[in-house]
Amino acid sequence: MMKSIVITSGKGGVGKTTVTACLGRALADLGKRVVLIDADFGLNNLDVVLEKENRVVYDIADVIANKCRVRQALVECDDRNLYLLPSAHGYLGEKVTAQNIRVILNSLAVTFDYVLVDCPAGIEAGFSRAVGACDSALVVTTPHISALRDANKVITLLSSYKITPTVVVNRVRGDLLAEGKIPSKDEIESVLKARVDGIIPETDGVYGFAEMPKKPFELLAKRIHCGTGEPLDPAASYRGFWGGIRRRLKRGK
Ligand SMILES: Nc1ncnc2c1ncn2[C@@H]1O[C@H](COP(=O)(O)OP(=O)(O)OP(=O)(O)O)[C@@H](O)[C@H]1O
Ligand SMILES: [Mg+2]
Repeated sequence: MMKSIVITSGKGGVGKTTVTACLGRALADLGKRVVLIDADFGLNNLDVVLEKENRVVYDIADVIANKCRVRQALVECDDRNLYLLPSAHGYLGEKVTAQNIRVILNSLAVTFDYVLVDCPAGIEAGFSRAVGACDSALVVTTPHISALRDANKVITLLSSYKITPTVVVNRVRGDLLAEGKIPSKDEIESVLKARVDGIIPETDGVYGFAEMPKKPFELLAKRIHCGTGEPLDPAASYRGFWGGIRRRLKRGK
């Protein structure tokens, strides 16, 4: 049965769109058929992150207005298992409801294994539209207090949609984790009272989705699809004697 997952956070800029794209690619690499839906209608950028903005012909509002069929609006993303349904442009976007998106998800259920819905920041209309269409959620946060507070609020809100989300911690610096300067996976799990399914390291110097490391998302995809394995430990190479030296070198940078 197809699984729909909304990628949400509350706080803006923590990596929802990045996680949507990279997790989508990892699930496609597992042989699953995946559609990414850009539900950030105001500030859509999943098409740009995937470098497919020039290939967009129809968008989700065109599908809802019956201007095209959903298959015609899907943009293939290099991998034949991975497709993008672009965001609504123009005023029609405001009129899209969770029910509209659900109808689209139902029509995709015959052919696809996963739909990942990239949610806008905030907890307003765009949030309820995206969340109301899905039956599970991933909450993206960073290990910083302001993001964790928002993640906490969103997790509480999701329970009113009868959704028990799991968490992805993004932008984790292994050196700071090894030094105990940012909260560990266990601490985050106990603060948020939710399971951490993914840990994504801070990737300085990486430009664009194509360059993002694949391993942490491979592990996340396996957790989601098979329920097995552990998230990446970005602190692993910063522990012990040589790790201490690596930490000092990193600090000196
Ligand atoms: N693990 C990471 N390491 C380094 N930079 C990252 C990481 N994840 C995301 N970024 C960068 O952070 C910025 C924001 O990421 P992204 O657009 O995915 O966040 P978002 O939550 O979708 O934002 P918005 O709320 O505006 O939709 C981007 O420039 C992205 O490249
Ligand atoms: Mg985004």
